[in-house]
Amino acid sequence: MPVSKQVVLQKAAQFYSESLAHSADAMSYLQARSLPLSVVDDMKIGYAPNEWDGFVSTLNAEEQAAALEIGLIAESNGRRYDSFRNRLIFPIRDEKGNVVGFGGRTLTDDTPKYLNSSESDVFKKSQILYGLDLAVKSGRKHLLVLEGYTDVCGLRAHDINTPVATLGTAFTEQHAHLLAKSNVKHVTFCFDGDKAGRDAAVRAMDAWAMLHEAGVEVGCVFLPDGLDPDEFVNSRGREKFSEYFQSNRLDAANSIAKLGVDRYLSYGKSPGLDAQLNCVAYINDLCMTADVSVERVRAAFDANPAFDCVQHSLLSQIDEFRQPPLE
Ligand code: GTP
Ligand code: MN
Ligand code: MN
Ligand code: MN
Ligand code: MN
Repeated sequence: MPVSKQVVLQKAAQFYSESLAHSADAMSYLQARSLPLSVVDDMKIGYAPNEWDGFVSTLNAEEQAAALEIGLIAESNGRRYDSFRNRLIFPIRDEKGNVVGFGGRTLTDDTPKYLNSSESDVFKKSQILYGLDLAVKSGRKHLLVLEGYTDVCGLRAHDINTPVATLGTAFTEQHAHLLAKSNVKHVTFCFDGDKAGRDAAVRAMDAWAMLHEAGVEVGCVFLPDGLDPDEFVNSRGREKFSEYFQSNRLDAANSIAKLGVDRYLSYGKSPGLDAQLNCVAYINDLCMTADVSVERVRAAFDANPAFDCVQHSLLSQIDEFRQPPLE
């Protein structure tokens, strides 16, 4: 990394961090979201003031050029201004702890809700897991992969020190590689209890096979509808979160069975043959993607009473798919 970009990232982190205590709005936002100072300190949460030139005015010409390249400032009609304004700032560190970018959450209902540093040679979203440096430092071998900054912070506020998050992107094989390299033994995906979260779980399946191959055991927890990890732990507490986690952690085969059941139920009462075939094809696809045998999914259906709602006809269709496809 060229020195000036590193310097500018450090300067920015320092600037946002120092600005936090001066903003009554930001401080009360933290309080409203139950984010304690211990987490502010760990994650170096900061605040970008509601000004056009708060940060840019602290930079010399060379630093401004670097700040432009990594999107911390922008230029219009020859004037340079701060990209992050009136936002809570989450510094994003790589696995070694170097600040590589920022995520900024609006304190109001401005859009976008989150603004991230722009992609550059120092900041590549698909290669970063937020919180990984601290999760690895904790020495724990079981990490939780969540969706958002505030999910990581919310869990940390309840002394759960192993959450990491993708930054609003899919969990990719690059992320899997990062985890495998970090000597992690177990990974649990725990995305939001909504359509986007379930889609994220499906998309992550591509990386399950890679994690397995690297000797990492993988599981998935589907949260109750309407709750993300942060909302769950804040509304129900750490104890209930742990309980839920223990009793709802599904291995690959059971995750696929659950996703298949969800698809099946989405067709309403007594789905027709087309719908059933669609579910079976879906399950079959997921098995291929995650590199899980269809037999294991079939066994998951047999063993789990939660899946009894599925008509026997779907299960017999799954049996049909045991035959390898024709070449
Ligand atoms: P809070 O509303 O602050 O609790 O955030 P959240 O993490 O629950 O947000 P949400 O579930 O909507 O989105 C999950 C993650 O996707 C966020 O943490 C961000 O990383 C990312 N994300 C959400 N909204 C935006 C957006 O408007 N722009 C970008 N670039 N990323 C977003
Ligand atoms: Mn969401
Ligand atoms: Mn949230
Ligand atoms: Mn969320
Ligand atoms: Mn709480």
